[in-house]
Amino acid sequence: MSKKKIVLSCLFQANGYHKGAWRMPQAQAGADTDIDYYIRTAKRLEEGLFDLFFIADTPATRTEFLDIWTKSPIYQNGLEPITALTAIATHTKHIGLGGTMSTSFFEPFNIARQFAALDHISKGRAAWNVVTSANDYAARNFGLDRLPPHAERYDKAAECVDVVKSYWDTWEDDAFVFDKENAIQFDPTKFHPVDHQGKFFKVFGGLNVARSPQGHPVVIQAGASDAGKDLAARTAEIVFGTGSGMDAAKKFYDDLKGRMSRFGRSSDQLKILSGFDAVIGDTQKDAEDKYHYMQSLVPIELSVMYLCMDLEAKLLDLPLDEPVPLDRIPSSSNHHTVYFNQISSLIQEGKTLREIATTYRRGNRVMRGTAKQVADFMEQWVEAGCGDGFMLPMSDYPGNLDDYVDKVIPILQERGSYKTEYSGATLRENLGLDRPANRYAAG
Ligand SMILES: Cc1cc2nc3c(=O)[nH]c(=O)nc-3n(C[C@H](O)[C@H](O)[C@H](O)COP(=O)(O)O)c2cc1C
Repeated sequence: MSKKKIVLSCLFQANGYHKGAWRMPQAQAGADTDIDYYIRTAKRLEEGLFDLFFIADTPATRTEFLDIWTKSPIYQNGLEPITALTAIATHTKHIGLGGTMSTSFFEPFNIARQFAALDHISKGRAAWNVVTSANDYAARNFGLDRLPPHAERYDKAAECVDVVKSYWDTWEDDAFVFDKENAIQFDPTKFHPVDHQGKFFKVFGGLNVARSPQGHPVVIQAGASDAGKDLAARTAEIVFGTGSGMDAAKKFYDDLKGRMSRFGRSSDQLKILSGFDAVIGDTQKDAEDKYHYMQSLVPIELSVMYLCMDLEAKLLDLPLDEPVPLDRIPSSSNHHTVYFNQISSLIQEGKTLREIATTYRRGNRVMRGTAKQVADFMEQWVEAGCGDGFMLPMSDYPGNLDDYVDKVIPILQERGSYKTEYSGATLRENLGLDRPANRYAAG
């Protein structure tokens, strides 16, 4: 029996996701805004037959604590995802192109239109990551003081996804006929206006671009709260999982896939990609050395700052080598429920601030080892039903990416657990996801 093929996505961050990576001698300073660099990276990922190049985003930048954020900023300087992915699309042929657009701040029409255009330009490789946003900096760019409550954001997200999908069905696949002789560009009976009045959106109109190659661009989601999982079970086709232990990951996997039948969906129509962060070396010691070197490049106050962000609390005044007082845990979270819960548990276990700040990885599975050890782990994880593949926040460039493409992937290919060529023309085809029929044509 042929083995299940591992799905791979790269979580792109110009110099890598390790906070010290940008200071390494081989890191290219200023890559954040260098489109040639993005394109080179995407082409290299294509050499490794990666399924997806993914850009995370928030429509905001930080306005406080800049003396700390300057040590390794995130979301302070980077290209807007759709713009960057569009440029990448014209230089690549196979890799899926995923980007984030927030349902809390963008209108369904804009989202539908931009991703449909990207799907046309990339000839069927676009994917939209549905997020509700999780910081008040974003809220303040859009006229609010704070983010709306988590539950309300998810209600809005659910409605937004429905409206976006309606826009994507504005035109039936064969609506545009371009009949020169009879002066008919499109068949008016194959146009279906969107007429929606809900709690958050009121629209009447349609999309001004033909139905795109994938019908609907692929829908990604990363919500891990209950509301997030329900939204994913109903609408998502790729989900970024959070949970570093095998038991927790398997529970998440079974829970999420189990919810899908309630929405009349088959569980193979959703790929769960687990966060996996591996530092790879020629020997175990080499990997450990690389990791410790990168860690030495991260000022401790920066690590604490990242923790403050995910716990939604102030911790900078605390002693580093003592447990974090329990009363520093806020009574509830409004940003990322799962990160909040994970950090709260570490505090409750009595870990010191330094321990948590230097090791917490947002639920990603962390590993340091040889290419063979990494390949072994990936196979076991997928075979055990903990995920369909991985979302890899590359720690550093070009090192970590080269390690995957040149060392890990050939091992997986040899064992039959990774593809040896792209099998389809679109992202949907490569992932084995059905192309959604136009709801009107189907009727
Ligand atoms: C791999 C990955 C990528 C994500 N990308 C984004 C992003 O680009 N923008 C964003 O606001 N949130 C992003 N998130 C956060 C999720 O949208 C979500 O808030 C988080 O997983 C917590 O889930 P919850 O909001 O349901 O509690 C990402 C999460 C993961 C695991």
